[in-house]
Amino acid sequence: MRNSNKFGLMSIPIFVILYLAFTIHVNMAANYAPIEKILLNCGGPLDATDYDGRKWATDVGSKYLLDSGKSTISQAATQEPSVPEVPYMTARIFYSNFTYRIPVVAGRKFVRLYFYPASYASLNASNAVFSATAGSYTLLNNFSALQTTEALGYAFIIKEYSINVEGERLDISFVPSAKAPSAYAFVNGIEIMSMPDIYSCTDGTLKIVGQISAFNIGNNTALENVYRLNVGGNLIPPSHDTDLYRTWYADAPYIDGAAFGVSYSVDPNVTIQYPPSIPPYVAPIDVYATARSMGPNSQVNLNYNLTWIFSVDSEFTYLVRLHFCEIQANITLINQRVFDIFLYNQTAEQGADVIAWAGGASQLYGVPVYKDYVVLLVPNGSPQQDLWLELHPDPLSRPNYYDAILNGIEIFKINGTNGNLAGPNPIPAPKQDVINPTSYIPSSGDYKTKIRKAIIIGGICGGIILVIVIGFYLIATSRCQHGKNSSVREVPSKCHQDLEQGFTNNLCRRFSFAEITVATKNFDEAFLLGVGGFGKVYKGEIDGGATPVAIKRGNPLSDQGVHEFQTEIEILSKVRHHHLVSLIGYCEDSCEMILVYDYMAHGTLREHLYKTQKSPLPWKQRLEICIGAARGLYYLHSGAKQTIIHRDVKTTNILLDEKWVAKVSDFGLSKIGPTIDKTHVTTVVKGSYGYLDPEYLLLQQLTEKSDVYSFGVVLFEIICARPVLNRTLPEEQVSLVEWVAHCHEKRILDQIIDPYLKGKIAPECFKQFIEIAMKCVANQSIDRPSMDEVTWNLEFSLQLQRNAEESNEGISRIHIEEEPSVPHKWKKNLDASPSLDGCGHLFSQEVMSQKLNGGHLWTGFF
Ligand SMILES: *[C@@H]1O[C@H](CO)[C@@H](O)[C@H](O)[C@H]1NC(C)=O
Ligand SMILES: *[C@@H]1O[C@H](CO)[C@@H](O)[C@H](O)[C@H]1NC(C)=O
Ligand SMILES: *[C@@H]1O[C@H](CO)[C@@H](O)[C@H](O)[C@H]1NC(C)=O
Ligand SMILES: *[C@@H]1O[C@H](CO)[C@@H](O)[C@H](O)[C@H]1NC(C)=O
Ligand SMILES: *[C@@H]1O[C@H](CO)[C@@H](O)[C@H](O)[C@H]1NC(C)=O
Ligand SMILES: *[C@@H]1O[C@H](CO)[C@@H](O)[C@H](O)[C@H]1NC(C)=O
Ligand SMILES: *[C@@H]1O[C@H](CO)[C@@H](O)[C@H](O)[C@H]1NC(C)=O
Ligand SMILES: *[C@@H]1O[C@H](CO)[C@@H](O)[C@H](O)[C@H]1NC(C)=O
Ligand SMILES: *[C@@H]1O[C@H](CO)[C@@H](O)[C@H](O)[C@H]1NC(C)=O
Ligand SMILES: *[C@@H]1O[C@H](CO)[C@@H](O)[C@H](O)[C@H]1NC(C)=O
Ligand SMILES: *[C@@H]1O[C@H](CO)[C@@H](O)[C@H](O)[C@H]1NC(C)=O
Repeated sequence: MRNSNKFGLMSIPIFVILYLAFTIHVNMAANYAPIEKILLNCGGPLDATDYDGRKWATDVGSKYLLDSGKSTISQAATQEPSVPEVPYMTARIFYSNFTYRIPVVAGRKFVRLYFYPASYASLNASNAVFSATAGSYTLLNNFSALQTTEALGYAFIIKEYSINVEGERLDISFVPSAKAPSAYAFVNGIEIMSMPDIYSCTDGTLKIVGQISAFNIGNNTALENVYRLNVGGNLIPPSHDTDLYRTWYADAPYIDGAAFGVSYSVDPNVTIQYPPSIPPYVAPIDVYATARSMGPNSQVNLNYNLTWIFSVDSEFTYLVRLHFCEIQANITLINQRVFDIFLYNQTAEQGADVIAWAGGASQLYGVPVYKDYVVLLVPNGSPQQDLWLELHPDPLSRPNYYDAILNGIEIFKINGTNGNLAGPNPIPAPKQDVINPTSYIPSSGDYKTKIRKAIIIGGICGGIILVIVIGFYLIATSRCQHGKNSSVREVPSKCHQDLEQGFTNNLCRRFSFAEITVATKNFDEAFLLGVGGFGKVYKGEIDGGATPVAIKRGNPLSDQGVHEFQTEIEILSKVRHHHLVSLIGYCEDSCEMILVYDYMAHGTLREHLYKTQKSPLPWKQRLEICIGAARGLYYLHSGAKQTIIHRDVKTTNILLDEKWVAKVSDFGLSKIGPTIDKTHVTTVVKGSYGYLDPEYLLLQQLTEKSDVYSFGVVLFEIICARPVLNRTLPEEQVSLVEWVAHCHEKRILDQIIDPYLKGKIAPECFKQFIEIAMKCVANQSIDRPSMDEVTWNLEFSLQLQRNAEESNEGISRIHIEEEPSVPHKWKKNLDASPSLDGCGHLFSQEVMSQKLNGGHLWTGFF
């Protein structure tokens, strides 16, 4: 402790001097400039630019092709919504050994191979089984991109290798598997990028965990990156890396159990400074600027390990690089936070002290450091096993805080003796979405285990799977048709058996098919209310005509199916809320899938907004509908026993009863979300175009904030009374969200609202409404409010409208004297000031923001 004080005092003057030095250092060395940056868009007829602005050269007619083997080029037959155009929509197909010969200068290269396992040239995607080599290294063997992506639950994958090239060229060969019949090989993209030698270590300091000996990673070692995580933070896309185009993923999916610790970002007054020994391209500042620690309670921390679990191939040795940086202003001295690091259940480091590691640096906090460890796996008979990374406070050091910290993780597979890096294909989980609602048992530990398992399976190559934002706009506008084929289908003939497991729930009535036939007059088309993805919806009457109902009859051959039928029953039989549509019962006779709901006299919200003969809804009524729907969603997110994520919030799923009460409907796509905080469900992207959360598309990780995003889109649809996508409009207006964001920026939002509403919305109300709606559609889920905040703000907005209308002055000239700070202090005396400066005033951001944050305090006030 005496030592630490000394450091603390001494660091101040040196800090100032070195701060400047470091700033210069950082500026000079911030980015690595690769000599080679080769991006091949395989099979693409033309050069193309990807979502990230990177240019890919076509390989057609390129000097890199050795005409040794037979190949053809082809377009992918399908495109799933999350798959970017470049480089995935075209491929080169190989029928025999085929080589790309790429001239390069000697040195280390990142080699990245991009695969999207669609059908090409009418070939069956499951026949693409092949090996790939780069120089003398085997990268892939008996590799099935289809099986791999299916096992991981992603649409496409990227494999990243680091290889030292001795000569003047790199040969990359693809060889169809000789063992599989009619096997072929393919690749969508090849990237060769020279890189600094940042992962090698030959000086005998690289520790093998649990052993005394050291390990060398030198020029003859090839590495495959299997995980690369930004601990405590979000995804860092390639364009935000330090010119090495690595992707850093969020770490949350790999954390074990409910013990998530605490994630946080760099304190505002802490500046991250790379010491001279660590070039900034080791990891971008964003990695060091977020961290995860164990939590504030020492006693709790002493009793658990903060644990990440990684599935790895058994046959290999792994290099684990851990990145650290103390970024909290309260930890600036040696021995304040000291912890132990365990890898593969062995002690990798005892008494880790990030401040002490910063060593000679001027200022001891805000200094990035990293540590490398080699883990030798003990074969246990199975092709994959779990590598645990555990952090635990080190009580022996008697630190000030019993806590641990971690900022980043990279895990690399090290080549085997014969230069092999290829592991077995991961085994796909049984074909199910992440959670099968029929087997979900509330309040048992089972559920968490399931998510855990799904996430682990999804994590086998998490670090090398890249799922990138193409921009929801791009997808939304151009990929609508393809997307329809992307959902996983259930086998209809299984339905009866699945349903046998039963929904013996007293809330939910079971009808016979005969009763349903009577209720719908034998499915008379005259009673048809609508047709959806699930099937047709009829109006009917039950209980001898006493109760009007809506009857949804599933088509067993429809895109949606048994699974969604079950989900809907499962969820609706659990939840009851004034703002959720009520399920009265169901019928499963003769393998029918029929659901019986309360009848909603006024139909869907959308049919009152546009493309309609119905009279436009007044503004206050629209607001009330928004509030009702928001309450329904808030209940789903938090009011029910478990979080339920709706996943398909849109204006056709908000129904209106005879009293114009909004009811959220259609739970066919819903997910029972994780019960633990700060996590998400990894799933195949589903939902409706135009409403899809861009972050969900990016990460395929579902949180309730995805619903918040969709709800934000609904709010704009309501105020603008136009479809979320209208392809006949000029390009910049096609997507409602994009157009609204543009108009918001230009402060001309008032010009694009429903003409019917012009002059009828009080400016304060409008401002409040737009502000919360904009927050809902924030690109990052973390910036979006929760549904209760949304509800509160909409209620407040309605109150502002009412206040304005109650005043004598008429809404065009009124203006609230002072921003109220709490609801019960709302001013009724309105100032008649005519000085309101139109829409410019409406869109200034300053005033409301503090209130929004405190919004949750007022839940229940109304
Ligand atoms: C494929 O071709 C390359 C270059 O001709 C050669 O080096 C390699 O050994 C071949 N691989 C196989 C499996 O035939
Ligand atoms: C490793 O390879 C690089 C580039 O080819 C070369 O400059 C360096 O000297 C080599 N290192 C050793 C130890 O051979
Ligand atoms: C592709 O091959 C797999 C396995 O051989 C088979 O199950 C599947 O039906 C085939 N698909 C098509 C479209 O032929
Ligand atoms: C950072 O600011 C906080 C509050 O303003 C202060 O308590 C803390 O000492 C500061 N830390 C450093 C390292 O300057
Ligand atoms: C933490 O992990 C280590 C290594 O696996 C283990 O020995 C220890 O018992 C764990 N501690 C707790 C509290 O789980
Ligand atoms: C490490 O410890 C955990 C918890 O005790 C256990 O589940 C896991 O199998 C162990 N891993 C190895 C490789 O022994
Ligand atoms: C990696 O491959 C090279 C080249 O085949 C070989 O010399 C080296 O021993 C391998 N490394 C390990 C750890 O087996
Ligand atoms: C190739 O992969 C398939 C699918 O993962 C597997 O069933 C088969 O056993 C593998 N063959 C060899 C030779 O490894
Ligand atoms: C969807 O799949 C069906 C049958 O598998 C096919 O007929 C149809 O063309 C596909 N649609 C699109 C848009 O790919
Ligand atoms: C889409 O935009 C076109 C062109 O402005 C317009 O005529 C059409 O009514 C819009 N469609 C809908 C459904 O609003
Ligand atoms: C979201 O990101 C897109 C693409 O980066 C950008 O065009 C758009 O303005 C962003 N939207 C908001 C609301 O920030």
